[in-house]
Amino acid sequence: MDGAERSERHIPVMLDRVVALLAPALQHPGAVLVDATLGLGGHSEAFLRQFPDARLIGLDRDPDALRLAGERLEPYAGRTTFVHAVYDELPRVLAELGVPAIDGILFDLGVSSMQLDEAARGFAYAQDAPLDMRMDSSAPTTAADILNTYSAADLARILFQYGEEKFSRRIADRIVKAREVEPFTNSARLSELVRDAIPQAARRTGGHPAKRTFQALRIEVNGELDVLRRALPAAIDALALHGRIVVMSYHSLEDRITKQTLAAGTRTDVPDDLPVIPAGHEPYLKLITRGAERPTEEEVVANPRAASARVRAAERVRERGLVA
Ligand SMILES: C[S@@+](CC[C@H](N)C(=O)[O-])C[C@H]1O[C@@H](n2cnc3c(N)ncnc32)[C@H](O)[C@@H]1O
Repeated sequence: MDGAERSERHIPVMLDRVVALLAPALQHPGAVLVDATLGLGGHSEAFLRQFPDARLIGLDRDPDALRLAGERLEPYAGRTTFVHAVYDELPRVLAELGVPAIDGILFDLGVSSMQLDEAARGFAYAQDAPLDMRMDSSAPTTAADILNTYSAADLARILFQYGEEKFSRRIADRIVKAREVEPFTNSARLSELVRDAIPQAARRTGGHPAKRTFQALRIEVNGELDVLRRALPAAIDALALHGRIVVMSYHSLEDRITKQTLAAGTRTDVPDDLPVIPAGHEPYLKLITRGAERPTEEEVVANPRAASARVRAAERVRERGLVA
């Protein structure tokens, strides 16, 4: 499948809402938008079309995504810069590009439809494929490495924390027993093992029984939550006054980190009994979404991958460099 065919099939999640949330920050000539998760460039294409004076910096840790997005966004080549980076490297990327501050930043978290569709990358539990799950294929550790080397306690911990899997201990113990017979290589064997480990009655709820285990492995392989915890404060710190950040999450762990990080910026750090807030201690963010916004039912029908999306956004209301 070439770049054009892929972008036709790929529908960016909550596109109009995301554009509306960032628009006030991108109207002026020379506005800089960072797409921290370029993917197939669906959101970026809409921004470049709608804001003809804005410049885009697109990051992705997946070299294939950068190549395909680059082809798709070729008509805007004079206003785009693409960088192969993990998004917590944003401060270094901006310093190297000589960009002192940015006006908007979008995080559309998780895996892209291209990564899910490419069976060989092993993200999908419904197809038999090598247990890989690296977003960047040059990274050192695959899902198979984790399954074949982590202790039962560590496996149980990641399944519980990153998959919110109630049967984490049972599954971890079975993984350790099974790998003594033969190391794990493919996803079908893991899917089957998880299904068998979960009591019959619990199999009827919560979707595919292996979904939570696959999510947990993917988060561990890519260090997703630690990276996000570092990246969001760095992104907020890079925003110019009235710059905006939009974060789209697909599971509660990502959404919780986003909610807490944005909320921290809306509070002052001085004690309640001080009559005035000293300069430099005012809140530096204002929330521009009320709670987490969800896609409409129509969007979910048209694009089932949007179903779990939750969007939160905030605006920088105090000058940079003063984040406590
Ligand atoms: C959901 S897709 C983005 C889709 C994009 N908004 C579009 O419209 O085409 C997420 C992308 O972010 C990338 N990604 C995920 N975690 C990343 C990280 N920590 N640093 C950089 N890129 C990341 C993935 O490789 C994937 O291509």
